[in-house]
Amino acid sequence: MARGKKIYEGKAKILFEGPEPGTIVQYFKDDATAFNAEKQDVIDGKGALNNRLSEYFMIGLNHIGVPTHFLKRLNMREQLVRSCEIIPLEVIVRNYAAGSMSKRLGIEEGTQLPRPIVEYCYKDDSLGDPLVSEEHIAAFGWASQQDMDDILGLALRVNDYMSGVMYGVGIKLVDFKIEIGRVYEGDFQRLVVADEISPDSCRLWDLETGQKLDKDVFRRDLGSLTDAYAEVARRLGVMPKGTGPKPTLVN
Ligand SMILES: Nc1ncnc2c1ncn2[C@@H]1O[C@H](COP(=O)(O)OP(=O)(O)O)[C@@H](O)[C@H]1O
Ligand SMILES: [Mg+2]
Repeated sequence: MARGKKIYEGKAKILFEGPEPGTIVQYFKDDATAFNAEKQDVIDGKGALNNRLSEYFMIGLNHIGVPTHFLKRLNMREQLVRSCEIIPLEVIVRNYAAGSMSKRLGIEEGTQLPRPIVEYCYKDDSLGDPLVSEEHIAAFGWASQQDMDDILGLALRVNDYMSGVMYGVGIKLVDFKIEIGRVYEGDFQRLVVADEISPDSCRLWDLETGQKLDKDVFRRDLGSLTDAYAEVARRLGVMPKGTGPKPTLVN
């Protein structure tokens, strides 16, 4: 499929104009960045794995009635999505303490939280994506109260879906981040899950051993990132052809 002009190149993906108005081709790069791009590397095969995994999760969400931007996967590295106006927030859902929450509040990593906690960060690399409250979001007009109600609902539904899917293959969903986009349908606007859902944007720990199967492997130099992501893909049965043994589902 012929893709159009490059629209944007980010840290992990490139966006191109899609074949029809209102569509975008999302190209998944092999680049890995962490700590606001202070740490960088190119990791062979990461893009293809994230393309596959994000497809898998977005299709599942669409099936259970959670709207997403996903239309279809085009090839190993590209997927066609609906073009959205991205709300400038990183929506984080946490089930267990880890990462910045553990640091900020002095809670040991891995402590189960009394209930899922949703946090919002203002999406701005130059500021390091700072944590903001709903007061900031309302006052600066990043999203309306109605949007925030919808975003909370979407975030919790994605959390239930992802937690269940991961639990089914012996993985604990510690936390994740999503981005939400607005799509316009005539006079109406609707919010959809956009960007990607992948081990780049989730914390995934093996249920039995606690082994990390997400971007912390790269952040904390814990071994091969592609091996970790391929393990998640293998367990889900979405391993791309030619990158390893035939998928077997863990019971
Ligand atoms: N459906 C969509 N429509 C428009 N923009 C999108 C869509 N999905 C994701 N994006 C944006 O595309 C970019 C994806 O590239 P990425 O490498 O993740 O960028 P960044 O370095 O900004 O995180 C992000 O800025 C994200 O907000
Ligand atoms: Mg991104």
